[in-house]
Amino acid sequence: PTEVSRIRNISKVQFGRHDLFPWYFSPYPEIFSQEDVIYICEFCLGYYGDEFSFTRHRRKCNLQHPPGNEIYRDDYVSFFEIDGRRQRTWCRNLCLLSKMFLDHKTLYYDVDPFLFYVMATPSDKGYHIVGYFSKEKESADGYNVACILTLPQYQRKGFGRLLIQFSYELSRIEGKLGSPEKPLSDLGLLSYRQYWSENILDILMGYNEKDEKATIEAISTALAMTTQDVEHTLQALRMQVYHRSDHKIVIPEKLIKQREKSLQKQRRMIDPSRIQWKPPV
Ligand code: COA
Ligand code: NA
Repeated sequence: PTEVSRIRNISKVQFGRHDLFPWYFSPYPEIFSQEDVIYICEFCLGYYGDEFSFTRHRRKCNLQHPPGNEIYRDDYVSFFEIDGRRQRTWCRNLCLLSKMFLDHKTLYYDVDPFLFYVMATPSDKGYHIVGYFSKEKESADGYNVACILTLPQYQRKGFGRLLIQFSYELSRIEGKLGSPEKPLSDLGLLSYRQYWSENILDILMGYNEKDEKATIEAISTALAMTTQDVEHTLQALRMQVYHRSDHKIVIPEKLIKQREKSLQKQRRMIDPSRIQWKPPV
């Protein structure tokens, strides 16, 4: 059996002002599984098996934000781009931390081929990590996300949407169509489906039937999504209607009503004009 299928080894993690309760195995040093609590520094992500060494570490650690370049800032979140090769230890620590909440991703040590886009939220103490996604520097399959995670204390608050939107904004800047690496976890799939559906609906509901033809290609370009993901979403929402050789996109009334209702909830979005980033060469 591979490491990933091994049983959960860490029972509790103290992380900043939060206690985290891991879901899955993560390859922290073997002795850590004997501790009731392990301590992870929320800034450098270093890990400690006892409070004494952790406290000693905290006195010395002067990191107050993720390493790397800040490539986005609004009044709610910032994004930092971190090169796995340049910040190897930090990125390995991030992978160890996130493995506790990821069932099947196996990357921990070979972080060099990846960039990490870390979303953090500011306080007077520094920038606190909310979540991240990793991205291969060269993806043969055109994936724009390898791993994606919102730390559990921040889940179901709309941060996953921001991460996903950010990944597509980067693809748009690159002039590419992106898609997340498969297989997605159950939660990953739920979040992506929701993101895809909402954004496709928003485009279609804004289309002026007279002068625009809502084709799969047009939607795909507008959202930097692959045509395959657009098509699957349309199928899942039963929005494609075939008539002889022609196919049409129709929006069921129910979906329009649902979307209008959900749009009333105030949701944060990434403001693409605030992204300060050029594709790495
Ligand atoms: N149950 C049902 N729907 C869920 C869900 C859950 N637990 N979590 C997310 N969704 C769907 C909902 O439609 C949600 O929108 P809503 O809250 O308006 O209903 C939408 O996804 C977006 O949710 P959001 O709050 O933006 O996502 P998140 O910050 O919780 O992050 C993940 C989503 C996938 C990043 C997060 O669940 C996670 O880190 N999971 C563990 C790691 C993982 O599996 N990553 C994917 C690996 S491929
Ligand atoms: Na949410």
